[in-house]
This record gives sequence, structure tokens and C-alpha cells, in this order.
Amino acid sequence: MCGIVGYVGEKQARDVVIEGLRRLEYRGYDSAGIAVIDGGSIASDKKAGKLANLEKAIADDPLPPSTIGLGHTRWATHGAPNDVNAHPHLGQQRRVALVHNGIIENFAALRDELERNGHELLSETDTEIAAHLVEAELDRGGDLTSAMQVVCRRLEGAFTLVAIDAQDPSRVVAARRNSPLVVGIGEGENFLGSDVAAFIEYTREALELGQDQVVTITRDDVQVTDFDGKPAAGKRYHVDWDLSAAEKDGYDWFMRKEIFEQPRAVADALLGRHTEAGLLQLDEVRISDDELRDIDRVIIVACGTSNYAGMVAKYAIEHWTRIPCEVELSHEFRYRDPILTRNTLVVAISQSGETADTLMAIRHARGQKARVLAICNTNGSTIPRESDAVIYTHAGPEIGVASTKGFLTQMIACYLLGLYLAQVRGTKFGDEIASVVRELDKVPAHIQTMLDDSERVYDLAKTLRDAKSVLFLGRHAGFPVALEGALKLKELAYIHAEGFAAGELKHGPIALIEQDLPVFCVVPPRGRDQLHDKMISAIQEIRARGARTIVLAEDGDDTVTPYADVLIPLPQVPTLLQPLVAVIPLQLFACELATAMGHDVDQPRNLAKSVTVE
Ligand code: G6P
Repeated sequence: MCGIVGYVGEKQARDVVIEGLRRLEYRGYDSAGIAVIDGGSIASDKKAGKLANLEKAIADDPLPPSTIGLGHTRWATHGAPNDVNAHPHLGQQRRVALVHNGIIENFAALRDELERNGHELLSETDTEIAAHLVEAELDRGGDLTSAMQVVCRRLEGAFTLVAIDAQDPSRVVAARRNSPLVVGIGEGENFLGSDVAAFIEYTREALELGQDQVVTITRDDVQVTDFDGKPAAGKRYHVDWDLSAAEKDGYDWFMRKEIFEQPRAVADALLGRHTEAGLLQLDEVRISDDELRDIDRVIIVACGTSNYAGMVAKYAIEHWTRIPCEVELSHEFRYRDPILTRNTLVVAISQSGETADTLMAIRHARGQKARVLAICNTNGSTIPRESDAVIYTHAGPEIGVASTKGFLTQMIACYLLGLYLAQVRGTKFGDEIASVVRELDKVPAHIQTMLDDSERVYDLAKTLRDAKSVLFLGRHAGFPVALEGALKLKELAYIHAEGFAAGELKHGPIALIEQDLPVFCVVPPRGRDQLHDKMISAIQEIRARGARTIVLAEDGDDTVTPYADVLIPLPQVPTLLQPLVAVIPLQLFACELATAMGHDVDQPRNLAKSVTVE
């Protein structure tokens, strides 16, 4: 939530900052702002609405040339998304400009204190108090780095702060606690960003920061300390993707591009994870095999789409390993005082690696001595850094707010984890594991088949443009697919959509069925006869009551034909792997319908890609 950019170097700061904000806009798009240092004073501009509004304002009234600056794109927490509440915020004498991502929890008390001392605060934000505090600290002497350290020691909550001091055009200073921040290391220039996309155009060398650290960047140097000023070290890494991955590449939306990247993303997620013979090797799992053999319970914590990946994982993990597996929303987890021991494996699934609720869940789990394994797409992010082990999903940057390739690669990582546990614990024979691995290796080609058939789904979207409500039904591993199909439609097309387990139909949802109500039905493969046949019965029941059925079923499954108003054939895969192919038409459908309705698919209203506040 919120995108932050900082720059010092030789280039025009306004260009670097605006370009960085454009790449971070997916993180929040309520308002945007920029500040640069110009001859001992701060020049800044900020505008409500998307970045384009700020760009227009700057085009009409250009900012002065400067080689140091910062910027922000906002997802509002404190105060409405208007011009005044937009960042940057300035100190009382306009000496300091500061941007913030997170929530300062003790802001009310600090605000009272500032007002008692004569400070005039212009906005409703928690951020402005930090700008005033840093400036007040500078007035007491010292430099921006030490002022930031002092102020951070007083703040509670989650924050990334980036600040500049009009009287010191050599440095940008930033701090982080519980919110993301990375440093981009260039030659004669350095960068700060909420993630590497902010500066990927200029450098692929990055520095990961730890918790409670302050970083000072100048043209030629990067210094890291803790909040007490003691030197600390960041972790250098090379970003293994480049600018082209962060561009739309001819697609109308990042989301559509990311849907079509899924064959490659899934292949990359599988790459190097097994031997020719199908023996699993997950070298990022830093928990010993002995410890894994002692695991007696798996708890998966995640939010949103990642939680649905966890629901799919439960079916596979329990089936292959016979270890009880629960799936829980991260924000519900720690508040129910869960029973955890050192033999509990908590699996945190997070594309961004930043979701605040998931981070707090794993901190709670580690506090109770449970082992924590992260399934994550973002190198260097907080959740993997605070876990005992990590399986990276290698999907490449996901920029569309609604997760697609992130979801598929999370499921792949979950399957790999399940098979690995089965291998270590001996609950599956080697040839059984090898046979699942062979099926997984075929998945990229299956996904491609689904994508090659996208016109069928686009035609369907045209016919459902005026739908007021859409339901999704599934059973077994198809149930989370139904939930994900409904979520995609809600987030992108803003129409009422719900996913149900088909067996639950008669306990309520069937009352919603009325003439021509569109219902997507995910039919399990025929190999699972009972499941398959029960799903067919459910389809008959809703069709008898007037529903318009859109049936996703295995190619060649003639039993469904009489009950399908629209039939979408799925490649033949084992039941447990079917979500990997069944979700593709649902992604395409939501993307296309939202496009037809004129919505911004990449930046749906009220949402943000990374939810870094609880
Ligand atoms: C937000 C995004 C979703 C994502 C969820 C969890 O709601 O819009 O696409 O599934 O956060 O995010 P995470 O990064 O933890 O997977």
C-alpha cells in the first residue's frame, strides 16, 4: 500500500521520481505527489486522483530542475484522498518534505503534543506529524539522518518514511519498520523504492533493509544504521528480471499480460525443483528432514487469492502426506490464540511478501516456536526474511492488482511442498511422486491450450455484460477455484459474485437461482466418479430452476453436454491439479468483462496490490 520513491544523483529528479511512481502506482492510486530541493527550499506538488493528474499539474507548472527528490502514490488510511492529505507533507517551516507508507499508531498523542507546541498541521494524516517532528529535531541541531533516528524511536506502528532536508541537498534519508523499502544502488546515483520496480530502469543492484533501520543515500554512498544510530548492514542482491518484465509489452492491461505469461511462470516455478527421476529438491527449505518428519500439523495462513491457493494446497497436502492441514485467513489467526508447537509447520503464502496480517501471523507463530515456511514471489521482502524457510514462486513481477500468475505459481509451490513432505516422510512411493511431477511438467502446455481458446471466453463475456450477479460452484479442489472466480469478478467488474461448494447449494444458495442467472460450474474430472456425478446433479438442479450454466469440464466429458448452456473444455489432468487449468477461463472472463464495462482492470477502485496495513 502506497508507493514510495527517493532519488539522489545526476539525473533530473522529477523525471526519475515520476517514472518510479508510474511503476509503483499499482500499490495505491488515490493521490500522488513529488518534492525536490531547489536552492535551499522545497518545491513540491501533489494532486488527488491518479498519477496522471499530478503529471498534468507538473506539465502546466513545471518543477525546478533538481537532482534530489522523492515521491509518493497513496492508498488513503488517515484522511480522505484529496490534495491536502496527499504526500509529501512538509514541516512547519517547509524545510523538510516527507512521504510515508503505513500507519503511525500513536499519532493522536504526537499530534496533540505538536499542536500544544504551536505547530499548525494542515492535513488529517498521521504522516504530517512525522514531517513536523523531523523538522523540529533538525532545528535542535544534527543532520537529517540523526533526526530521523530520533523520530523513529518515538513512533509506534508500521512505517516507511523517506525525507529530504532543503538545507542539505546531498542526502535522502529513509527508515522502515514493518513496511517495505529497498535501496537501488547505481553509479553516481542511488535510489529508494517500495520495491525494485521503482528503479529497475536504472539499476538491478539492490540492498534489502532489515527491520527498524535507517538508510541514508547520497550520490556515492549508502549508509545503514539502526534507530539508535549504530551501524547496520543491508543485504545486497541482484534483481533477476529487467525493465521489459515491468512493461505491458503490447497488452492493454498488465493483468492480461500476466495471464498470458502463466505457461512460462509455471515452468519457471517448477524449474530445478526435481531431478530427471522426479525426486524433489527444494534447496530453499532450511528446515532439516528430521524436523519435517516431526511435523504433526500444517497451518496455512494467507489473505485474498493467496488464501485460495492455500485451500487448494490443503487437499493435496493432506492427501499426499496424511498430515492434518488447516487453512486460515491471516487476520483471524493470531486473535483466536491458536494452538502451536514446535511440531507445527505454519505456511505463509504471500505474493508480495508484505501483507501486514500475514506478517503478524508468522511473527505470532514463531513466538510460539512453530516453524514457518514462506511461499513468496518477492525476493527480499519481509515475510520470507522472517521465516525459517522459503519457496520462491519465480513468477516475475506481478503488477495487475488482481493476482493471476502469482496464484498459479503459489499453487505450484504448494504442490511441491506437499510432494516434498511426502518424500521425506515416506507417505508416497518414489514412483507415485514422479508420476505427479510428470503431470505438473505438462501443466504449462495445458495452460497454453486454455489461453489459445481465449476467444470462446471473450465471446461469453460479451453476452454477460449486463449481468447483475454471477455465481460459481465447485467441489473439492474446484471449490477454491469457484471462490477465486467470484473474487476476480468482484474486484474487477464490481458485480455481485459468490463462490459456493456445490454440496452446500441446497442449504441456502439455491434460493438465489432465478431465470437466466449465470452460474459457472467447475466439474471434477471423471476419474473421481462420485465427485463428478454429484456435481452433475447439482448442475441439473440449478438448471431446472432457470440458471444459465457455464460448465467447465474435462475435454471429452459428454455427460455434461445436456446440462451446459456454455461448455468450456478443460485439459485432462488429475483432480488435485485441476485448479491450475480451471481458473484460467475465470481470469480471462473477469478481465474481459471489466474491460468491456470500461473499468480500469489493473487498478480497480478502492484496492491496492500490497496491503501493508492491518
Ligand atoms: C490484495 C491483492 C490480492 C492478493 C492479496 C494477498 O488483496 O489485491 O491480489 O491476493 O492482497 O496479497 P499477498 O501479497 O499476501 O499474496
